[in-house]
Amino acid sequence: MIFYIGPVNLTNTDPSLRRAWHTLCRSEEVTATPRAFDLLGQRWVAYRTSAGAPLVFLDRCPHRFAPLSMGQCEGDALRCVYHGWVFDEDGRCVEIPALGDGATLPSRAQLSAPAGIYESHSMLFIAPEEPLTPRPRITAAEDESFLRGDLDVIETRASAALLADNFLDMAHFPFIHAGTFGADEAREVPHYSVTRDGYGFEATYEHDFAHREDPGVAAGIRPLVQRRRLTYRYVAPFHLELAIDFLDAGGTNVIGFFLTPIDDERVRIYSSLWRNDLEGSVERMREAIDFEVAVIEEDLALQSRMEVLSMPLDITTEVHTRADKTTVELRRVLADLVAAVN
Ligand code: FES
Ligand SMILES: [Fe+2]
Repeated sequence: MIFYIGPVNLTNTDPSLRRAWHTLCRSEEVTATPRAFDLLGQRWVAYRTSAGAPLVFLDRCPHRFAPLSMGQCEGDALRCVYHGWVFDEDGRCVEIPALGDGATLPSRAQLSAPAGIYESHSMLFIAPEEPLTPRPRITAAEDESFLRGDLDVIETRASAALLADNFLDMAHFPFIHAGTFGADEAREVPHYSVTRDGYGFEATYEHDFAHREDPGVAAGIRPLVQRRRLTYRYVAPFHLELAIDFLDAGGTNVIGFFLTPIDDERVRIYSSLWRNDLEGSVERMREAIDFEVAVIEEDLALQSRMEVLSMPLDITTEVHTRADKTTVELRRVLADLVAAVN
């Protein structure tokens, strides 16, 4: 009998992660000027064609491995800064100046492209190899009644898996977030269930909370303590969403959290808010973003100092309770991805 023994811990650059979608950058960062972005221990170059299509290649010229991100676009083609080789939209070399006109070009003079490129809700995602996981999606991003606010991109020392774990964790609010929203949170995590769907899951629960942002409280129309529903949606490996529905005051507050593993020690965090309860007020969105930044800083003060930057995939390694159902399911999904690739 053959037993599969996979990695015990998932690091930021586990090879299985190459078979999944990752956030490479924000759409606005992709222009006609080539730019480098790091992901899974590799550097990629991204630029945009005149028709607006994003192109991504490994940031390495096949000739002498010069960074293509130092080159420049000529129409929809990319010219390497070193010896001027030109590559077309498909990554094929179409000109080698040193050989003159009409020369036969080596067939291996070809750029390496990721298996998948996908642009959606103002972000660019790539799958380095044939993806097993579904494309990330945030429903609120497609609904025009929502105002969107982007946090600045954060780069930090962290494990992407542990940051995902932290986002899904409900028991840390009164402790880590005592300085922001945690003081009002009950310590006991309510019973909730997790619904698995392939390489993702959803978890929902309702609870009472102090709705300090509700103008109706100050106006005496509604009580301070109100009901809200929290829905966590996770898509492997590192795409997360929390939708908070205010059941009494109305409105929905969506927090998107997209993590890019850069290398074994670093992660980029792309977080955006979608809200339909701010009456379109850019100023109130600005306040909401500042608050979210403060919340993330509370999390990162701990996460950036974790001694071991990897996640145990064997469920028996750590101690879990019923309050940890989402984070246990996270480990199961990631373990399944690792097993599927090996
Ligand atoms: S290294 Fe790019 S053209 Fe020579
Ligand atoms: Fe947190």
